[in-house]
Amino acid sequence: MDYFTTTAKPSRRAVDCVIVGVYGRNRLGIGAQDIDRASRGQLTKLMKSGDVSGDVGSVALLRDVAGVSAARVAVVGLGSPAKLDVRTFRRALAAVIRALDKNRVGQLLSTLNLEDVAGASSYYLARYTAETVGDALYRFTAMKSGRKPKGLALRKLGFVVASRGDAARTLRGAEHADAIVAGKNLARDLGNLPPNVCTPSYLARQATAMAKKHKNLTARALNETEMKRLGMHSLLSVTAGTAEPAKLIVMQYKGAGADAPVVLVGKGVTFDSGGISLKPGPAMDEMKFDMCGAAGVLGTMLTAVTLKLPINLNVLVPAVENLPGSHATVPGDIVTSMSGQTIEILNTDAEGRLILCDALTYARRFKPARVIDVATLTGACVIALGHHHTAVMSHDEALSEDILAAGRAADDRGWPLPLTVDYADQLKSNFADFANIGGREGGAITAGCFLAKFTEGLNWAHLDIAGTAWRSGAAKGATGRPVPMLTELLLKHAGELPKT
Ligand code: BES
Ligand code: MN
Ligand code: ZN
Repeated sequence: MDYFTTTAKPSRRAVDCVIVGVYGRNRLGIGAQDIDRASRGQLTKLMKSGDVSGDVGSVALLRDVAGVSAARVAVVGLGSPAKLDVRTFRRALAAVIRALDKNRVGQLLSTLNLEDVAGASSYYLARYTAETVGDALYRFTAMKSGRKPKGLALRKLGFVVASRGDAARTLRGAEHADAIVAGKNLARDLGNLPPNVCTPSYLARQATAMAKKHKNLTARALNETEMKRLGMHSLLSVTAGTAEPAKLIVMQYKGAGADAPVVLVGKGVTFDSGGISLKPGPAMDEMKFDMCGAAGVLGTMLTAVTLKLPINLNVLVPAVENLPGSHATVPGDIVTSMSGQTIEILNTDAEGRLILCDALTYARRFKPARVIDVATLTGACVIALGHHHTAVMSHDEALSEDILAAGRAADDRGWPLPLTVDYADQLKSNFADFANIGGREGGAITAGCFLAKFTEGLNWAHLDIAGTAWRSGAAKGATGRPVPMLTELLLKHAGELPKT
């Protein structure tokens, strides 16, 4: 996408469409005031007659408004000015893009960033705008035959700004969003692809393809023989029932010399049937999304290399398929992890932690500054937090707070869960060092405690994205979360966020 800014009056730019906001009780937003003046009170008239509404997300598309240079004016309702937050702002903008879907709009000029949105800076408002527009333009048509629906062919997105300084911050926000959208789109595509296409080998190929296209980025994938040599028997136990070869994808981006890297580890279960502890049938197709942790960290890597961030970043993806079969791991099996700790596998459906623990042990060789794993780890997390917040677990208060703050700033929010020893006790085993499950109660946390047994001495956090990585129902599909949250964290780490 091309981005531009203008200090001109919104009524004076000859674009395909200019977006202005109006509030409840017939109040005009800043852009709307200018359009109203230029058109001798058209907007006021239309509001009074009820043809234009200030209700959140209602859109009126006006053509050839007298005195206005743009071909169309999209008037969107923003609700009450006192309640205008990032959520409402994004909802309204997405409604405009939906309303324009069938129109031939190549250039769009927004004035919504001039409104006061819960005190957000011009950098963030531009970022939210470009990200929301990018999200709304996303289509997954790779698996459709015949003519594919195109959607809005937007080429240029402009922002009306108040000053030169705002112009620079606005463009920076839009460019960051552009890279975030690229990362989210990759994550969404990988998530949405069917499990017969998106296999562990496919994920490995995507990683190598990405490395070919970007400077200072390498990718390789360890095969099962190499993993066996490293002693990753916990990871390998998950792949025992399938013919698809498992991979451990290792990506390294060097943008900052000898600094200790940030390591992101993503759960890459390309299909989770539960294994011998087979899942029930309904909605089992959604377990193709069980690689959304992998998709999220690969997407974040794409964002980081697109922005050429001055940081070192490694991505690890343990990629496997979890299927039953005559060679499959069975409940009661005991395996030795790469760390040397033994695990009694009481439920083969608690497989995410079994692959992550070996990847986390592998992460130690990079002497990382921070390690964050990202996983669709537990159904219990969805029960605890629903679909709005990603669960954030860490023994490190500062890291946890940084992640939560990043989530708030990026509008991709997390919420903390406790990792106290009481929960770890639930993992006791009579036969091995510990079991891979800890009962129903606090299931998201006991999974976190399991991982904590492998991250002693590391500056580590665990993100459970089981509730946030995809949507079910009519809008079924991957969301691209937590790419915005992780990118925000990296932007902060890199010192790339504007001061004001
Ligand atoms: N991938 C699932 C978690 C999951 C389930 C995410 C449903 C989103 C929706 C994970 O591998 C799993 O099966 N976890 C089990 C753990 C249990 C056996 C301790 C679960 O949550 O039921
Ligand atoms: Mn499972
Ligand atoms: Zn799983």
